[in-house]
Amino acid sequence: MSDTYLQLDKLTLAYGDTVAVKDLDLSIKKGELVALLGPSGCGKTTTMRSIAGLLNPASGRITLDGADITRVSANKRNVGLVFQSYALFPHLTVYENVAFGLRLKGVSGQDLDAKVTSGIKSVGLASFAARKPGELSGGQQQRVALARSMVMEPKVLLLDEPLSNLDARLRLEMRAELQRVQKETGVTMIFVTHDQIEALALADRIVVMLNGGIEQIGTPEEIYNKPVSAFVADFVGFENVFALENGKLVTPNALVELSAPVPQIPVPMAAKGLAWRPRMVILGSGPFQGTVRGTSFAGNVREYLLDTPLGPIKAEVDAGEPSHAIGATLAFDLPLGAAAPLSRYR
Ligand SMILES: Nc1ncnc2c1ncn2[C@@H]1O[C@H](COP(=O)(O)OP(=O)(O)O)[C@@H](O)[C@H]1O
Ligand SMILES: [Mg+2]
Repeated sequence: MSDTYLQLDKLTLAYGDTVAVKDLDLSIKKGELVALLGPSGCGKTTTMRSIAGLLNPASGRITLDGADITRVSANKRNVGLVFQSYALFPHLTVYENVAFGLRLKGVSGQDLDAKVTSGIKSVGLASFAARKPGELSGGQQQRVALARSMVMEPKVLLLDEPLSNLDARLRLEMRAELQRVQKETGVTMIFVTHDQIEALALADRIVVMLNGGIEQIGTPEEIYNKPVSAFVADFVGFENVFALENGKLVTPNALVELSAPVPQIPVPMAAKGLAWRPRMVILGSGPFQGTVRGTSFAGNVREYLLDTPLGPIKAEVDAGEPSHAIGATLAFDLPLGAAAPLSRYR
């Protein structure tokens, strides 16, 4: 791939004897905004630390902009890293916090002032330059941390759960801000999150990680609509996931024969599983029967948890539809046409 900018090749990362990331392959294009998405402990931070040069790979190779940087020290890589905790200097003003790294690099005078001023402006803090971190909100502090990294003009900017310390409203604001800064500057960005909504909203491409490896790489649309494994399916909201055996649904009691052919997957391979979003389950008609065990009202929709011979089923219908009481027995269907066929169950 000629347009690869950052490449991780069979990267294995360990802490002593504990292997945290194994044989990771990843190619990122210049200017891409890539999200690493996965549950706590899956190796996201470890991967970022290795790209930043803070952790030496046990094996494998990292290439950036045509150069092998696997053994290049952190301060010579030109890779920026923004953490969830902003780690600003509390005694320095916003201006001096942003100027700090540039001064270390020997930038001074008008050049320094131009870079710092434009960096602060780009994150919307022009009128806060003289304040100290203690006089700023969490969101504003996170913007300072972002500006401080951006002014260094890194080849790659790594953001490790940068929004997880912010409240819901600020997160939304900062999300938009990040996207804007990234599009304006064209900086290559890798963004770590355990929040699929955030990844779907922000990224050009999403890398879903599990247990130190990659489960799936794809655009937000691909990850959301065409999960390849049971884990990814469940992670993006296909909460009814089944394994398939000889074309039959594996359920706690029996293999269930399907009434129509299993949907094809675009590789010449039989599907190993099928998954349905609660929204896709048809309630009120169909070949299966379930008993309502729980129901909850969620604004414009109502959710049902059914006890069924297929195991627990989650269904979601418009709140305007007639509601069903706990204990009621309902017919339901898992329409094959709506199912996501999984190429891997595990
Ligand atoms: N300093 C460390 N020493 C030993 N094990 C670690 C260290 N940091 C992380 N790990 C382990 O490596 C794995 C990946 O951790 P991490 O990359 O921090 O996950 P994530 O960022 O996805 O939550 C976990 O099993 C974690 O316990
Ligand atoms: Mg982490």
